[in-house]
Amino acid sequence: MNFPNHRPRRLRRKAAIRDMVREFQLQASDFIAPLFITEGSNIKEEIASMPGYYRYSLDMLNAELEELVEVGIRSVLVFVKVPDEKKDNKGTEALNDQGLMQQSIRHIKQHYPELFVMSDVALDPYSEYGHDGIVEDGEIINDVTTEVLAAMSVSHAVAGVDMVAPSDMMDGRVGAIRAELDKYGHENVGIMSYSAKYASAYYGPFRDALDSAPGFGDKKTYQMDPANAQEALREAALDIEEGADILMVKPGLPYLDIVQRISSTYNVPVSVYHVSGEYAMIKAAAEKGWLNEEDIMMESLIAFKRAGASLIATYFAKEAAKYLKSN
Ligand code: PBG
Repeated sequence: MNFPNHRPRRLRRKAAIRDMVREFQLQASDFIAPLFITEGSNIKEEIASMPGYYRYSLDMLNAELEELVEVGIRSVLVFVKVPDEKKDNKGTEALNDQGLMQQSIRHIKQHYPELFVMSDVALDPYSEYGHDGIVEDGEIINDVTTEVLAAMSVSHAVAGVDMVAPSDMMDGRVGAIRAELDKYGHENVGIMSYSAKYASAYYGPFRDALDSAPGFGDKKTYQMDPANAQEALREAALDIEEGADILMVKPGLPYLDIVQRISSTYNVPVSVYHVSGEYAMIKAAAEKGWLNEEDIMMESLIAFKRAGASLIATYFAKEAAKYLKSN
């Protein structure tokens, strides 16, 4: 295999041949659109650190859902912003059948039954400490938390969710959730587990969106150390054993190696979360005129496919799907 017999540039000479030999493609159904929902009515407020991204009250949500469906998005991932007075250290509001998450799931399923609805399962939006679990003496208590997460998952299932997405990183929660869902007859509700979720500074804008920043300390006793890779495979193995249907890696671009390792090691679909900080960085650079937003967006998204992800949760879902439709 040597030059001049081989001239790889022959396959790049024209758009037609480039299109013909392209190895990976993006399609709207690859994207999961995160939704931020807030209490009240007539609210559509932009998140300061996420330009072009909004929190919606339920009465304002349909216009957004309509647009998502129109451009071919098949799935949403629901997050709720909980007012301070409903936060405690037990996840009480997380289990409320009439809570905002449960209402949101019912709302979306009622108006857009064809949308595949996923719900975030973690206690941080409900926690007076802003932590993903129940706190005792300054520690996040694992097994008590997983019980609440399992009950929370059942409550989402009762509301009609298609798949729960535990983002908390407690040990054993996938198994606990699977068992509880099955116990109550929700064996068809799936689990997309955040298997390799790193303790990352890229979550900053998201915590602004939900007002969920930790009140003390950080999340390093449960989220993974960015310096570890082998550990991600162990987390993935545990989640598969416990019954996860899809494994997620988070954040996205800085952790492409993890996406690649997990997707080449295991035979379950891998998703990746292109997180809020990654979105904010692109938006900020584009605002300054330093990068071309559309090009960077599409280049970032195809990188996830190349690394082995089949699903991408991204705040660019709508924009990227629009782009794919018109190009
Ligand atoms: C909380 C949760 C976080 C994100 C998704 N679920 C933040 C955190 O762990 O502190 C981050 C998403 C993003 O940054 O876009 N369980």
